[in-house]
Amino acid sequence: MSTWGKTADGTSVPIYTLSNGQLEVRISAYGAHLVSIKAPDKTGKMADVILGSDSLQTYIDVPGPYIGAIVGRYGNRIALGKFTIDGKTYQIPPNNGPNALHGGPRGFDKYVWQSHEVPDGLELTLVSPDGDQGFPGTLTLKVRYTLKGSTLRIDYTATTDKATVINVTNHSYFNLRGDDAADILGDKIEINADKYTPTDAGLIPTGELAPVASTPMDFRKPEVIGARINDDFQQLKLAGGYDHNWVLNGKAGTLRVAAIVADPVSGRKLTVETTEPGIQFYTGNFLDGTFMGRHGIPYKKNWGLCLETQHFPDSPNHADFPSTLLKPGETMHSTTTFTFGVVK
Ligand code: BGC
Repeated sequence: MSTWGKTADGTSVPIYTLSNGQLEVRISAYGAHLVSIKAPDKTGKMADVILGSDSLQTYIDVPGPYIGAIVGRYGNRIALGKFTIDGKTYQIPPNNGPNALHGGPRGFDKYVWQSHEVPDGLELTLVSPDGDQGFPGTLTLKVRYTLKGSTLRIDYTATTDKATVINVTNHSYFNLRGDDAADILGDKIEINADKYTPTDAGLIPTGELAPVASTPMDFRKPEVIGARINDDFQQLKLAGGYDHNWVLNGKAGTLRVAAIVADPVSGRKLTVETTEPGIQFYTGNFLDGTFMGRHGIPYKKNWGLCLETQHFPDSPNHADFPSTLLKPGETMHSTTTFTFGVVK
């Protein structure tokens, strides 16, 4: 552990390095961000495989793309920032057009978390007070990052003292080429999902679970990301690329493969497993170059891809989506793993 810097109010921010010879991971207590993951290519050369900066100030000054952050209390969008629990309506201040995104204006990515080392990793804790960004209940969230072999595992645990909603995820942008050397359009991705949740123009799910078959959303077999991204398909036009939630096959609550990405040039391969019911595959469509990466590359459109394991966006307003409600006495537990390898 070392001190990375200070926030504007003078709070000092620890940064940690986890390393086991196969992976090297840096994690900041500011927003529980994954700041760097280094993994080997097919020749054994280690390089950064997520976007990031060595400067805490860059994360503070350019929070918009949520690079590497833990997002919450509610990852992705809530329509008009409004939802109802037990007949009472709650309002999150809109911060994405009329909608609330990633927990509202001051989401979990903008707090300094408590942190301490645990065997093989790090545990970060955030206590979000009752009424934080309009959400009910004091919510205690623990995020535990651990390294085992070539796997980085993330465990999320949360409790509350009033009924609330929760949907937390990690917002890393993967770039398997290494050290930000190219965009991600040449990567191949496979997503273990027969259906996805189409959205309206504000990227709010319409409520439909649409089949991926015969559309550019079909990644049941590995496909090159850029091959169909500019197809004349309304859902891609609305989002400027891929920015959708896929409904994962298999039983939510059990760890199963969600997605596999591979870069044919470096040979690096990432397998994502999760207990969550969905995954947001986002091709960095809104990256606009304002976040300057550590290798001197400003991050522009398609420079990284997010694989945000999650409950579906706007679930509090869709009774038939898997529930994001958390009640006092219950514990929310969710696990996601990122395993790095090489293509054979
Ligand atoms: C959303 C995008 C958004 C991005 C960064 C993703 O989870 O789906 O629409 O631009 O996060 O905020």
